[in-house]
Amino acid sequence: MAPPRHVLGISAYYHDAAAALVRDGVVVAAAQEERFTRKKNDPDFPIQAVQFCLRHAGLKPEDLDAIAFYDKPGLKFVRLLETYLAVAPGGWRTFPSVLSTWLGEKLDLRKTIREEMPELRADCPILFTAHHQSHAASAFYPSPFSEAAILTIDGVGEWATTTIARGSGASIEMLKELRFPHSLGLLYSAFTDYCGFRINSGEYKLMGLAPYGEPKYVNAIFDNLLDLKADGSFWLDMDYFNFLQGTTMTNPRFHDLFGGPPRLPEEPITPRHMDVARSIQAVTEEIMLRLARHTKALTGQKNLCLAGGVALNCVANGRILREKIFDRMWIQPAAGDAGGALGAALAVWHEGGGAAVKTNLDAMQGSLLGPAYSDDEIEAVLKERQAVYKKLPRQELLDFTVGLLKSEKVVGWFQGRMEFGPRALGSRSILGDPRSPRMQSIMNLKVKFRESFRPFAPIVRQERAADYFELDAESPYMLLVAPVQAHLRKTPAEGVTGLDMLKQVRSTLPAVTHVDYSARIQTVSGQDNPLLYDLLGCFEAATGCGVLVNTSFNVRGEPIVCTPDDAYRCFVNTEMDYLILGSYVIERTAQPKAVSRRVAPQAD
Ligand SMILES: [Fe+2]
Repeated sequence: MAPPRHVLGISAYYHDAAAALVRDGVVVAAAQEERFTRKKNDPDFPIQAVQFCLRHAGLKPEDLDAIAFYDKPGLKFVRLLETYLAVAPGGWRTFPSVLSTWLGEKLDLRKTIREEMPELRADCPILFTAHHQSHAASAFYPSPFSEAAILTIDGVGEWATTTIARGSGASIEMLKELRFPHSLGLLYSAFTDYCGFRINSGEYKLMGLAPYGEPKYVNAIFDNLLDLKADGSFWLDMDYFNFLQGTTMTNPRFHDLFGGPPRLPEEPITPRHMDVARSIQAVTEEIMLRLARHTKALTGQKNLCLAGGVALNCVANGRILREKIFDRMWIQPAAGDAGGALGAALAVWHEGGGAAVKTNLDAMQGSLLGPAYSDDEIEAVLKERQAVYKKLPRQELLDFTVGLLKSEKVVGWFQGRMEFGPRALGSRSILGDPRSPRMQSIMNLKVKFRESFRPFAPIVRQERAADYFELDAESPYMLLVAPVQAHLRKTPAEGVTGLDMLKQVRSTLPAVTHVDYSARIQTVSGQDNPLLYDLLGCFEAATGCGVLVNTSFNVRGEPIVCTPDDAYRCFVNTEMDYLILGSYVIERTAQPKAVSRRVAPQAD
């Protein structure tokens, strides 16, 4: 039987719904629904993302040969049911509402999908891949490796929370799994929640807070919360957690262990929270290192592929890289559940008899898999908005942008296809000069409307990365953290503590250097993003510095911009100095008064 030529992958109904299209085993398009609906982490059926994928591929729903859904709703339902029964009567409080949701759209997903996409052919199969099978497929098939070990770590899918697998050509063999409730993702989320950050999106903040603290609670965590084995497997002591009951993550016993109740989101961050963050980060790194070593021993592979939400912990990824457990590592950029849509589609292609499509290249294409807009489309938006703009040819645009960046201007940069996954990688980005000691504050206050305790991320040409950072691998998806090179570091004045430490100059690249001298690096290749690559080259030619600041093009609480109109509206609602939209330059002070004088509102 011929493999299904066009497979549409879908993830939905939990967090960050997405769609991805695979044609003949090649990833053609992928996007998260939040970018279209403008609802951050939108979990609803990703109908607009589906429509984009089909449009991009020149297909109609009736052209699809298979639909791949990223987990098995039946198994997940059994897990929920068993969990609630196991903790009864505590669990019964939320049970009726959960039950009604599951008995509705989730459990009868085939019917739901056909209702959402009535044009699907009756003989188009709707297939379900296991949650971690989707993560594993998303990690292995697009990787540059024809053979590799695969490690997936997340909160929970159906039952599995961590899996070890081996990928070879067109097949993936699942070898081992850890099961719910023993979950590194849920453990990290419990601490995320305890420290006052939002579960499923605030984990990054907890990781960013960790360098401020001391690992004072590491022993408390190991002695009380979990029993960690040498192979990285562990048991959580559920006497400290509340997530089985489905109401909160932690309970008073947990709070006593860490010296107080959970921090409310707007409460100040104290040294205790920093110490807790540092401690759980250290524990997470230890677990991930043990898992990586066990994966190596079990598979004997030289290469490691990572996915699952915990693979977004770029500090831990950097540790695995530096320990040299594997020769090479590749991390799926959409490591969370959005990437499950892509993995499901790839799994269905390969399991349906599709051949491995391996070229020794990263098949994610820089993760630039979303919509792009032509100059004509962009100009139509600018006219509609009555914006004042000018158009520049490529080299002039680059030179002009370099001039802006050099003079500490904050520049919105909207080019080419939108990124798939949580990070902006230079298509929907805001750029700045990392040498400026003020840039961190300027960008936060002008655009993000917050004081952040995290530095911004640097972008650097791949071949120049080692000049600035202790990194000898590619990091195209900003998923590896490495130290700033020692010769670039500066010693700050003593006596400054807490969040003020970030304001101190710690290197010649202060805007991207964390308080522990680390940076989360994106390396840029000329192949995946030629314009950004050339911009970095022009900036270096003009300044001697081959690094720029890259932060996502959005304001706090909103998804990254998708369309030129989203970008223009975001520009208007912030105090960004310039917007480069395709070939067009839009200067704030040249705009109609209502725009140029606008005082940005507080977001969130
Ligand atoms: Fe997941």
